[in-house]
Amino acid sequence: MSLKKIVVLFSGEGTNLENILKKLHKKEFEGKKIQIVKTITNNPKAKGIEKAKKYGVDVEIIDHKNFSSREEYDEVLVKSIKKVNPHLVVLAGFMRILSPVFTSNIKNAINIHPSLLPLFKGVNAIKKSFESEMKVAGVTVHRVSDELDSGKILDQCCFHRDNESFEEFEKKIHQLEYKLYPEVIKTLLIRE
Ligand code: GRF
Repeated sequence: MSLKKIVVLFSGEGTNLENILKKLHKKEFEGKKIQIVKTITNNPKAKGIEKAKKYGVDVEIIDHKNFSSREEYDEVLVKSIKKVNPHLVVLAGFMRILSPVFTSNIKNAINIHPSLLPLFKGVNAIKKSFESEMKVAGVTVHRVSDELDSGKILDQCCFHRDNESFEEFEKKIHQLEYKLYPEVIKTLLIRE
């Protein structure tokens, strides 16, 4: 049985983190076991901290407020990730722009973005997508690269819009995230 190790980075609610823990943590697929070996947050108040602890998973808090530059922060982040030598680094609502210090050192990182990239990059993607004239909306899993929300697209899924309220729209986006992200992670770790 081979072990596939993941590190998850998050900043807030941690609902994607929780979903990944529920569906993948310590589960076996085709003779391979996935384990979230560590989670890291930049936010000491992140709700996701309790969610990780509930699953007995290590949480490291690396508060960005203690660093004077993005590069300095990323150096410590990279070191912490490399310590556990993961097969994959999963960004799940990690609200930090990453510098080349991160992207040149961590090649195996992916992110989920709540829009159909390349549309609506950056913050407030759900709102931007809701307010657009698009008849479909969806989510994207992509590789992390030097440029924000611009790495290679790994997968997407979408729904046809139906005059939803913003709350309904947002809920549908999150449901797609919870379905797509574990599937892509599994594909990368188990089948490739
Ligand atoms: C998700 O919508 C994700 O796509 C975006 O940030 C949000 C994080 O939510 N990058 P949560 O912390 O997983 O609940």
